[in-house]
Amino acid sequence: MKYHIAVIGGGPAGYVAAIRASQLGAKVVLFEKNQLGGTCLNRGCIPTKAYLHTAELLRGLGELYAKGILAGEKPEFIWKRAVDYKNKAVRTLTQGVSQLLGSNGVEVVKGEAYLESARRIFCAGKSYEAEHIILCGGSAADKIPIAGMELKKVLISDEILDIEVPPQKLCIIGGGVIGCEMAAAFSAFGSQVTIVEATDRLVPMMDEEVSETIRRAFEKQGITIHTGCQVKRIEETKKGNDELLIETNGPKLCSSSVLLAVGRRPDLSCLGNMRERFALEKGRVKTNEYMETSVPGIYACGDLNGKCMLAHAAFAMGETAAENCLGSKKVCDLRFVPNCLYTMPEAAGVGMTEKEARERYGASLLVGRFPLSANGRAVSSMETEGFVKVLAEKTYGQLVGVHIAGKLASEMIAEAGALMATEAGIYDVAEQVIHGHPSYSEAFGEACLDALGRCIHLPAKRRKSAGLSEGGV
Ligand code: NAI
Repeated sequence: MKYHIAVIGGGPAGYVAAIRASQLGAKVVLFEKNQLGGTCLNRGCIPTKAYLHTAELLRGLGELYAKGILAGEKPEFIWKRAVDYKNKAVRTLTQGVSQLLGSNGVEVVKGEAYLESARRIFCAGKSYEAEHIILCGGSAADKIPIAGMELKKVLISDEILDIEVPPQKLCIIGGGVIGCEMAAAFSAFGSQVTIVEATDRLVPMMDEEVSETIRRAFEKQGITIHTGCQVKRIEETKKGNDELLIETNGPKLCSSSVLLAVGRRPDLSCLGNMRERFALEKGRVKTNEYMETSVPGIYACGDLNGKCMLAHAAFAMGETAAENCLGSKKVCDLRFVPNCLYTMPEAAGVGMTEKEARERYGASLLVGRFPLSANGRAVSSMETEGFVKVLAEKTYGQLVGVHIAGKLASEMIAEAGALMATEAGIYDVAEQVIHGHPSYSEAFGEACLDALGRCIHLPAKRRKSAGLSEGGV
């Protein structure tokens, strides 16, 4: 059978590429070896967000009385029901993807597929021919080359999601996004959580102030954090008390389970016989800005090219590749992809961190901040932990970075991303944007005003922060 476009992988990059290609009139086949939806829907974003929702409700129980509710007997956490609820959310969304593909006329073939040649794919005993191929094979959890990786109680994120019962003690290696989200969830579920992070702070890819806010919040939640700490080996204790000993360059730790969250690496298996033909970069399939690989007519999107290992970036890459297969010359611009961390509080960022922006703009950088403790919606919901910070260059006021810690940060960041993508800046926000009141997003507007020295809802003495004359520009 001959197709215009064949897509390997039904995760966020693959299913979006298939749908977009089909919208443009192509005859499309998509191959998937597991469930549709990929890591995001089955083992990543969605199941963790379901658990984090349960975790947030559990954490909120402590505030019920202060908010006027006497809940009576001590509420009970039932792990099995939390798992069922998580599974239901996953099922709803994976079925949704299947329906979307069906309604767009995409043919889905179940089985492990790999390249036979630049125009042929082999799957489940059959060969398929296509004019263009989009590889979206995803990634797998990385391991570290130390003794003990093979132990049964050393888990990766896929495995802990379906664990029989939350471990009494959980040591998480890696304080990046997965490490922090799992720490937030399992600590609320009753595990005693310790994070071991190699660099000097949690979520080192985010703004430093965000890292600091998350660290403080985690410590309040009873999570132990060791930064600048590398694991050397893991072994089972001899005492038969079912514990693991974790040897690091710092403290010796013991735990009932270990979760490895040290990053992900692309799964190159879909390259099949043609692996040697592809240019790779640090184990990732190299692509240009059009998402095309070094083999003409073959595109690679999502975690496989490793440009940005986020589901929403994968959506954008998939769309771009589909359009380019069908004659466009579209660049996939990933400059304004937001990073979101769904802990309690949440955190999100887009563009440069403050450190990067200071290096780039020096004295012509404007920084505006607004604490959620001065935001009406946050105060009325007792969610005052966190802040919004905007970074802008002085001449045009163009936003170069926005960082948020606090309730609904992952929603609030969308406004910043949209403004940055359309090259709007803090002067535009100050003069033209009105946020609903009361809303968390007002904090973004106020942070923009603060950068101009004209924030309304902070005491006057702070107005000089931007180094501008009273009243701004
Ligand atoms: P990551 O790259 O975000 O974090 C890994 C962390 O492990 C880093 O902080 C690193 O310094 C640390 N590390 C590495 N080796 C170590 C060692 N030997 N000892 C101690 N610490 C060590 O990777 P993560 O958290 O595994 O996530 C994988 C991918 O999935 C990322 O690309 C991430 O963006 C994506 N993801 C995104 C989510 C979101 O957007 N909310 C949620 C979950 C995953």
